[in-house]
Amino acid sequence: MQAIVTIENLTISFSSMYGKNYAVRNLSLQIPRAKTLGLVGESGCGKSVTAYSLLHLVPKPGVIEKGSIMYNDMNLLQCPDATLQSIRGKNIAMIFQEPMTSLNPVFTIGYQVQEAVELHLHLRKAEAKDYTIALLGKAGIPNPSSRYYSYPHELSGGLRQRAMIAMALAAKPELLIADEPTTALDVTIQSQILDLLLTLQKSQHMSMLLITHDLGIVANVADVIAIMYAGEIVEIAPTKEIFNNFLHPYTQGLMSCIPSLHKKTKRLATIPGTVPIISKPPAGCVFYPRCYRGDANCLHAPVSLIQKNKDHRVRCIKA
Ligand SMILES: Nc1ncnc2c1ncn2[C@@H]1O[C@H](COP(=O)(O)OP(=O)(O)OP(=O)(O)O)[C@@H](O)[C@H]1O
Ligand SMILES: [Mg+2]
Repeated sequence: MQAIVTIENLTISFSSMYGKNYAVRNLSLQIPRAKTLGLVGESGCGKSVTAYSLLHLVPKPGVIEKGSIMYNDMNLLQCPDATLQSIRGKNIAMIFQEPMTSLNPVFTIGYQVQEAVELHLHLRKAEAKDYTIALLGKAGIPNPSSRYYSYPHELSGGLRQRAMIAMALAAKPELLIADEPTTALDVTIQSQILDLLLTLQKSQHMSMLLITHDLGIVANVADVIAIMYAGEIVEIAPTKEIFNNFLHPYTQGLMSCIPSLHKKTKRLATIPGTVPIISKPPAGCVFYPRCYRGDANCLHAPVSLIQKNKDHRVRCIKA
């Protein structure tokens, strides 16, 4: 698969009065061109800061210590701010988890989406308005010409997220980063929004980085899935391969957390423990304290990603 973005050895740390924490450690990852990469992991494992680093949006006091992020022969991490400003929204767009915090409550959604259209496409006012209404319709907003005049609080959560999607797609970006775009929505709306993202990704031949903590969500949407744990990728493979032949005990844990109508269980499975805060890179496997399969051999040296099958790599010596 050809890559649109290649991340290599990305390391991001946060310093506080208690010392330094590594949110992302030596992370290498490729986002395939015109396909969807699902980035999956528990809360706090570093998914968002990885995504933010592409657009220089890592929140302070976060620091990108090392690494490179190549996008069309350009290292985004070394781009001057002016260049990045022109890439943001136009080439690489992002949608966030909670649309209410990204939409301005005092302007209509038409006004806000049209602002993005005018900024990126340099259309005249009348053309920009028609384009905006078409865009709202494309994002699945019913009666777009009247919804154009609605304020964010007049829309349901699902319609607000559709307005955000319309705004992100204003400039026909090459890459869309969707950071937990459906977490704040109920289940039926969630699947509608995912269907919409998938349809738009395919019809516009866009690349998509879809971030979620729920493996069930990416099952039907992603072409490739990367499982992240404590700041590093622990398993990566095409979606079918991940579901049929997962190898890492953490992936196995995530799989057993997906509720099923067919299996009779009294309680949903959990993975005991929490994601550790890494202040000093551990000697051995980071997942060891939560792993049912680990033994003393896992503690000797850091575990690197091991190639298993074609396109399937896993960070586990027992796999
Ligand atoms: N503003 C911040 N200040 C200090 N530390 C931060 C900040 N933002 C992130 N971190 C650190 O980076 C780690 C990764 O955060 P990140 O937001 O990327 O997690 P995530 O995988 O996106 O989680 P979630 O699923 O909850 O969104 C956190 O565990 C935390 O230690
Ligand atoms: Mg996040």
